[in-house]
Amino acid sequence: MGEESQVTGPGAPNDDTPVDLEAEFNDSRVQEVLDTLDRELIGLRPVKTRIREIAALLLVDRLRKRYALTAGTPTLHMSFTGNPGTGKTTVALRMAEILHRLGYVREGHLVAVTRDDLVGQYIGHTAPKTKEVIKKAMGGVLFVDEAYYLHKPENERDYGQEAIEILLQIMENNRDDLVVILAGYKDKMERFFASNPGMRSRIAHHVDFPDYSAAQLMAIAKLMLAEQNYGFSPAGEKAFADYIPLRMKLGHFANARSIRNALDRARLRQANRLFAGKRRPLTKRDLMTIEAEDVLASRVFGEGATDTDATPTH
Ligand SMILES: Nc1ncnc2c1ncn2[C@@H]1O[C@H](COP(=O)(O)OP(=O)(O)OP(=O)(O)O)[C@@H](O)[C@H]1O
Ligand SMILES: [Mg+2]
Repeated sequence: MGEESQVTGPGAPNDDTPVDLEAEFNDSRVQEVLDTLDRELIGLRPVKTRIREIAALLLVDRLRKRYALTAGTPTLHMSFTGNPGTGKTTVALRMAEILHRLGYVREGHLVAVTRDDLVGQYIGHTAPKTKEVIKKAMGGVLFVDEAYYLHKPENERDYGQEAIEILLQIMENNRDDLVVILAGYKDKMERFFASNPGMRSRIAHHVDFPDYSAAQLMAIAKLMLAEQNYGFSPAGEKAFADYIPLRMKLGHFANARSIRNALDRARLRQANRLFAGKRRPLTKRDLMTIEAEDVLASRVFGEGATDTDATPTH
């Protein structure tokens, strides 16, 4: 740290002037984003490591530019694969922030879309629709959720192909001002890339989001509650620990998203429980605490439980 004046001054340093990687790193304030990522997201070790690696690559690229070691802007388009609720959208938002802090995109905003935002119903509608979305995303990140639905092999005249062609062009020609992240299930994405090799070749980083373990889901639940100034009573925590594996076995399980939904319902039951006993004055602790009964009333504990306790994943 410290002697950074020579590298931040105007013009290129001569070949013998060392650049200070650490000072550069501190200046970019990327560490803040990485720290927030660490703090706010439980688990995701491999994802966090990949994000760190990409940040390192960009930082070194920036330093190389100081010596006029041109190599062209690195390709930064990515694919985020994983099951629903594994944190893809959340991490994409952080990625946009990192890209912005390192100067790879002007604004650092994220525009999240699906097929319906890009593809029109009628002939001639798709190109303007796709271009409008791209215009909004310029200077930031375009996040295409369930990107494989752009490609419908069973329908020869599908307009999705038109959106893909436009995306491919932009991904090649506007690399320095737009980063595209394609997200979705791993197997479907694999098939999509297999039939769209042009798309695969434009993606530099494939990041895979693993499912969470029961213990990680518990940690996520506690974090989510704490963020909203709630907490489990000891019995409430025990009940939720029983809830998690039961919920994981039911259909439509969506990792952290299912946990968020379950907590929303527990809050609802807590409010109703407090309301039903309203003659008694309530303490701050009462208002904050999720008790066992708020969890155990879930249908997941019922005989022949179905997934009706779970709202759809989106
Ligand atoms: N590791 C984690 N730690 C804490 N909260 C998490 C974690 N992963 C996800 N969440 C939370 O779970 C919810 C769902 O996450 P997110 O929307 O990022 O998932 P996703 O992979 O994009 O899901 P989908 O495929 O359904 O769009 C968000 O509220 C997010 O904050
Ligand atoms: Mg998402």
